[in-house]
Amino acid sequence: MRTFRSSRCLVAAALAGAAAASLAAPSGKEIYESTCIACHGADGKGALPGVSDLGSKSGPMKAGDELILKRIRDGYQSPGSPMAMPPKGGNPSLTDEDLKAVIIYMRKTFGR
Ligand code: HEC
Repeated sequence: MRTFRSSRCLVAAALAGAAAASLAAPSGKEIYESTCIACHGADGKGALPGVSDLGSKSGPMKAGDELILKRIRDGYQSPGSPMAMPPKGGNPSLTDEDLKAVIIYMRKTFGR
């Protein structure tokens, strides 16, 4: 029984590894366009009221990468804002590496 259970675990681990590998490293652009664009818009200016303009000079992207990463990962709502940024944009499968890729993409694309 013990052998059976542990070999099942190995199979499960192998499957999980394969799934992770096939999902490995979507580009920042792919992540933005699948998870973030609905609220932030193709131009990063915000598609809904309360969504920050990612390209604005005084906007949120002037913060450092670590702070931005934390706010995307954990979610964020500024004082008085009508709407919160959901953790990972509502996509819990995104890793820190994915979020770093999307930060690089946003900086490149929206110029901050
Ligand atoms: C359901 C809508 C929604 C989705 C999806 C969403 N955001 Fe947001 N995001 C917001 C809102 C609203 C704010 C502004 C929150 C505030 O200032 O109170 C925000 C703010 C931000 C900020 C600025 C945080 C700051 O420091 O002010 C960044 C960066 C950001 N989002 C990145 C992302 C990324 C990357 C994704 C995709 C992985 C994403 N967002 C998906 C709604 C969304």
